[in-house]
Amino acid sequence: MHASAADRLLHHYRQHARELPWRSRPGELPTDPYRVWLSEVMLQQTTVAAVAPRYARFLERWPTVEALAAAPEEAVFAEWAGLGYYARARNLHACAREVARLGGFPTTEAELRKLPGVGAYTAAAVAAIAFGADCVAVDTNVERVIARLFALSGKADVPARAAAMLPVGSGGGDFTQALMDLGATICRPKAPDCPSCPLRDGCQAYALGTPEAFPARPIKRQRPHRFGIAWWCRQGDEVRLVRRPARGLLGGMAALPGPEWNEARPAVQPLAAVRHIFTHFSLDLLVVEAAADDGWWQPLDRLDEAGLPTLYRRAVDAALAAERQPRLAA
Ligand code: ADE
Repeated sequence: MHASAADRLLHHYRQHARELPWRSRPGELPTDPYRVWLSEVMLQQTTVAAVAPRYARFLERWPTVEALAAAPEEAVFAEWAGLGYYARARNLHACAREVARLGGFPTTEAELRKLPGVGAYTAAAVAAIAFGADCVAVDTNVERVIARLFALSGKADVPARAAAMLPVGSGGGDFTQALMDLGATICRPKAPDCPSCPLRDGCQAYALGTPEAFPARPIKRQRPHRFGIAWWCRQGDEVRLVRRPARGLLGGMAALPGPEWNEARPAVQPLAAVRHIFTHFSLDLLVVEAAADDGWWQPLDRLDEAGLPTLYRRAVDAALAAERQPRLAA
């Protein structure tokens, strides 16, 4: 009898699982759901390589969910600086407070789903990886593996197909992470290493000879473009910073002061400019010298403590570099 696809996958995982700081060994449940939850939130939209050092630093600062719940929100934002998608930091903090209030993490997918900011992916990942529940967390790697295995052109059927592969009562932690590892290392978006794949026999995309064609890529829409102004208000070795409104893009993060961004290029003479690509639009942020009186004075040699998101960090660096340049006569 042939081993099932799930058996072959798990067998491969036991031998080849990536060693990652938040992971238990194959076959073992991790001891601390806080670490699993934290890693899964960090790993959404951010690569394993970028997350690893930040995860360690975060845990050193807040080793338990209670410690994180007790932290000031600004400190959590500052620690998140550079990781992007800052709504995650706000949700992370809100979720930690709720878990501390409950006295610990709920253990089922349905209960986890009720926590603030916990969506389908995170609930399934924590239930499966931390608590051994029979569910599969579907990220883009898992989507690609399953879409190829069953030659699915779209992604809609992926969760049901993945769930149907998981043997009842076996727990989805290793299974989910085995699919993630396969997607990251073998079933790559480009040039998949099919000869090394434990699921090759039975992979419909492989049989068709066109694994890269699955899943079909959605038609790319053009990103709209916006302009923004950041006021550069510098006095000696300090610069004026503000905290952005809690809601909306970069909500709650430190920033240079400035008006709302919009579609029209403002008629200003910028000292410097940076272009930044967000998920839903691109932005030219023009840094303009001006007086500003909201916010606070931040010493330039302690900018790291302010936790500027990448956009504003780049804007500050561009302004400082421009200030060092001799000015051209107008
Ligand atoms: N990406 C998201 N979660 C992951 C995990 N648990 N292991 C590896 N990559 C991941």
